[in-house]
Amino acid sequence: MEKILVKNSLQLRGTVRISGAKNAALPILAAAILGTEDIILEDVPELKDVEIMTEVLKSLGSDVKKIGKNKLIINSKNLNSYVTKYELMSKMRASFLVMGPLLGRLGKTVNSLPGGCNIGSRPIDLHLKGFEALGAVIENNVGDITATAEELIGNKLYLDFPSVGATENIIMAAVLAKGETVIENAAMEPEIVDLANFLRKMGANITGAGTSSIKIKGVAELKGCTHQIIPDRIEAGTFMVAAAITGGDVLVENVISSHMKPIIAKLKETGCDVIEDDENESIRVIGKDVLKAISIKTLPYPGFPTDMQAQFLALMTQLHGNNVAIETVFENRFMHADELNRMNADISVEGKEAIVSGPKRLKGTKVRATDLRAGAALILAGLVAEGDTEISDIYHIDRGYEDIESKFRNLGARIERVDRD
Ligand code: UD1
Repeated sequence: MEKILVKNSLQLRGTVRISGAKNAALPILAAAILGTEDIILEDVPELKDVEIMTEVLKSLGSDVKKIGKNKLIINSKNLNSYVTKYELMSKMRASFLVMGPLLGRLGKTVNSLPGGCNIGSRPIDLHLKGFEALGAVIENNVGDITATAEELIGNKLYLDFPSVGATENIIMAAVLAKGETVIENAAMEPEIVDLANFLRKMGANITGAGTSSIKIKGVAELKGCTHQIIPDRIEAGTFMVAAAITGGDVLVENVISSHMKPIIAKLKETGCDVIEDDENESIRVIGKDVLKAISIKTLPYPGFPTDMQAQFLALMTQLHGNNVAIETVFENRFMHADELNRMNADISVEGKEAIVSGPKRLKGTKVRATDLRAGAALILAGLVAEGDTEISDIYHIDRGYEDIESKFRNLGARIERVDRD
């Protein structure tokens, strides 16, 4: 079985280029099925999740071809199915992002309940409520959700929580609907803005993306376009933490610093130097020998991202004092705390709150990536641990990090993929 082996690697140094954002690429790939003309996507990260979304599109009748490094061409003229197979849905939760576009394009979609990262119960009620508000009829037959609409009609709707996926799915269902849709309490993540920018290039009429109120005026059809995916703010954040935890000096390139505000603020609070260079779209992080304890609380954007909580928990094990991490977005997203404790961290979790006492001398051992970002946290911990850290279940890591070992190795990290039981 493939594992990632990390050895103590203090002071990472050098430059790392960030890939396109997984969480922007996935909805944009799904949205490509809304049109019948060629779509060219650039900076598409080579990831397991992107591969699965490509398979989903192909299974629906879309033609998807790789035309260069990180470049895809998609044509969905011959879209001929509205059923997403269980085998694909169970591999990746985000496969449900094709529901909105299928409903918009074909008036029907059948999907199994989603699988994916094991981070608490993740319902899709808000997606379905949104489709219903646009006139779809929802049926739930033993795990298969069917949504049908002879005609989607724009409506005003309010999300009980600013869900990223629900906001995206509803936008994608509404772009070809009749009339105007307004989503209140919409998610404001940069990936939503990227999706809206992409759809606008296709001819959609969307305003307000990036605010909590998004307005979509339905159009009759969408055309082809070329679009470059935005940089991955979570990958960027992971390498920024790598610089901090190892006391290194890393220049992170291809990053939009306005997307990184909570990460920059919290790293500065620890005492790291963080130098933003907007002109060159880069951020340099310089770690220090002694860093101060901090508190974080995950929130929807522009708050601290839940997808950076695990990596910060790893960092907190090296900060001087008592750190607090509060997780408000997902239930049960502290599974990495037990793994970090196996490495001699001192983390106690009670409900939504984790207290991390630092600094602790971490010790390498066998650990398991319980989800994607947990896997990244274990790599970060392994960089500063004494001895070897052997991480299993690394398929989670491959879902969301492109070339992770070579990017870390280029910064001086001692990390390799090994095949062992
Ligand atoms: C997306 C990201 C994921 C990130 C998350 C929060 C993608 C592919 N994934 O996931 O990496 O961690 O945003 O930033 O973009 N909820 C409901 N009902 C719903 C939908 C969501 O109760 O119908 C709840 C969830 O259980 C969770 C919270 O809302 O507690 C946030 O989920 P959501 O924003 O929908 O996350 P995803 O879109 O699944």
